[in-house]
Formats: sequence, C-alpha cells, structure tokens
Amino acid sequence: MTDSVNRLKDKEDILVLAIETSCDETAASVVRNGREVLSSVIYSQIDIHKEFGGVVPEIASRNHVEKLPYIVRNALLEAKLTFDDIDAFAVTYGPGLVGALLTGVSYAKTLAYCLNKPLYAINHMEGHISANYISHMDLEPPFLCLLASGGHSNIIHVRNYCDYEVIASSRDDAVGEAFDKVARVIGLEYPGGPNVEKLARNGNADAFHFPRPLRGEETYDFSFSGIKTAVINLVRNAESRREPVDRADVAASFQKCAVTYLRDNLIRAARDRNEKVLVLGGGVSANGALRDSFEDHKDEFRIYYPELRYCTDNAAMIASAAYYRIRNGDSPSELTLNADPGLEI
Ligand code: KG4
Ligand code: ZN
Repeated sequence: MTDSVNRLKDKEDILVLAIETSCDETAASVVRNGREVLSSVIYSQIDIHKEFGGVVPEIASRNHVEKLPYIVRNALLEAKLTFDDIDAFAVTYGPGLVGALLTGVSYAKTLAYCLNKPLYAINHMEGHISANYISHMDLEPPFLCLLASGGHSNIIHVRNYCDYEVIASSRDDAVGEAFDKVARVIGLEYPGGPNVEKLARNGNADAFHFPRPLRGEETYDFSFSGIKTAVINLVRNAESRREPVDRADVAASFQKCAVTYLRDNLIRAARDRNEKVLVLGGGVSANGALRDSFEDHKDEFRIYYPELRYCTDNAAMIASAAYYRIRNGDSPSELTLNADPGLEI
C-alpha cells in the first residue's frame, strides 16, 4: 500500500469523488486538486423533514439509501468522467447522525472495494473548513477558523493543512441549533437559520437585549442555551399575557446577539494570538448579518467565507479535505471503516 500511497501523493492531478450523508443532504462531488469543482450534486431532503419540524434520522437514512446511486452517477456525468478517471474516493464518517453516516460509508466502501481504489475517511468539520479552499484559490493556512453549524460552534487554529487546534467550543447548544429553536418558537419552518435571517430583515435588532453568556470568564468558548431560553421566555411570557410580540424584532434581536457574540470571540482570540487571517465555515457562515459584522474589521484582518453553496453541507468540501490528506501522505482507510457520530476534530 505504501508504494501506491506515495504514487498518488506525488501524482500531478488528483481527482477525488466524495460522498456526504451526515445529515439530511445526500451529496456527491468530483474535485480536481482540492480546489477545482468539476461537479457538486446535492439532493436536499428539507421538504421531507419540514413537516416534522426537524430531521428525522430514520427517514434521512432511508432517503440517502434510495438517492445515493443517482447522486453519485450524476456527479460523474456532470464532471464528464467515468469511475476509471477517479483516483480516490472520500466519505464523511463523522460527526453526524449514525444511520445517515453509515449509508454513505457503506456505499463508499463498496465503490472502493469493487473498483480497487483508495478510500479516505473525512471528518465533516474538516470539510467545512476546506470549503474555503474551493472558494478562495489564494487561501492557505495558517488561519483562525470560526466553525458555526447546526452541530458545532468552534474556533479552530488551522496551523497547516490537516493540522488543527481547537481553541473554543460551545459548552451547550451549537449556534445553528439555537437559530433552529428560536425559529420554531416564533413559528418559522425548518431549517430555522435562513428563515430567521429573512424575517430579521424587517425587524429592529435593538428591540430586545439578550444577556451575553460567560461574560467575565477568561475563555473563547461559547454558550447558546441561555440566549435561546431568554428568547423562548420572552415569547412565551408575552403569549401568556396575550400581549403582541413583534416576531421580526425577536428574530433581528436574537440574530444580532448571536452574530456579535461569534464575531467578538473570534476577534478577541485573533488579537490575543496575533492572527491576521480569519475564516468562517459551516451552515451559519451563510448568514449575511454574520458576514456583515466583519465589515468594520477588514483593515485589521483578511476575512474569508465560502460561497453560499459551500457553506451548508455538500460533498465538494469533503473531496477538498481528502485531497490535502492525500498530499499529506495519509494512508487510506481500511475497509473495516465505521461511522463515528461523535467524531471530534
Ligand atoms: O453546516 P450545516 O449545513 O450542517 C451541519 O453540519 O450542522 O449547518 C446547518 C445549520 C442549521 O442549524 C441552519 O439553521 C444553519 O446552519 N443555517 C443558518 C443559515 N443557513 C443555514 N443559520 C443562520 N443563517 C443562515 N443563513
Ligand atoms: Zn455541516
């Protein structure tokens, strides 16, 4: 295996076909040399899960199983390639929903075994960071990354490709989870984040003030459950007094509180560590208010975020992460690979 790993590592052009099924998107993509997306096919199950107010794991897994063959075939067709052209497969093996992850892992292992090609097991969070390599050809480590998704709120020092140091995490809810819960309490459909953002455009962001958690502590960590509970209490108390509450004002005030909290911790960490390059990633990095909150800091920092289509879950970011694993000389995974729903970076 070592010979073939070295041959691949040094190959001029590397084509990776990646599969992503960690939550409710069935995705496949072909990427050349980690940065050039030849195809990115995403089947979103949002419409299916909407009526339940969130992702139903068993339904997600069944849909992945049904759709995977078509999504993978379309990724090849769109790239105008066949399996013969592919140098390596990649698949998200965690973190995520265990059943959903297993569908992608099993499919990718089968492809690797039948076609006798290497398979790279990729951490979903590493994928979200790598989405930025696709969108920005000039971006190279080191940098500080704010990873804000439905499952995570982290500040990560990306020391080099494949070399990470987590310097902050959420102590309870992830920021995307807070967006989704606030959305539900003000009557918006799943997924909450984009709907909160839309409604917030018509609201007054200074109408309500929510407390900033962990204030006074020497930490870059986050906590979102207190903000979420404050929003829920505000709405429920108004309802019980039969007083009208402006939902757009609630959305705008919550969003402002959440994004300034994310921004302030990232900037504080960057100043303390003398980092000049800031990168955003994960579903919440699609949020316009979060992006805008960095506008006043562009003289001090270089700021990057992925194109909108690569902020939320996709397989191109997984292919990009796999490319850097290959160039790093990492061994492919064994075909005994299992899903790891609680995987950390
Ligand atoms: O990265 P992602 O697609 O999946 C995970 O890895 O979790 O992130 C999904 C999360 C959801 O909580 C969704 O509500 C949130 O990202 N999100 C947003 C926006 N778009 C997606 N949150 C705020 N504003 C948005 N525009
Ligand atoms: Zn994600």
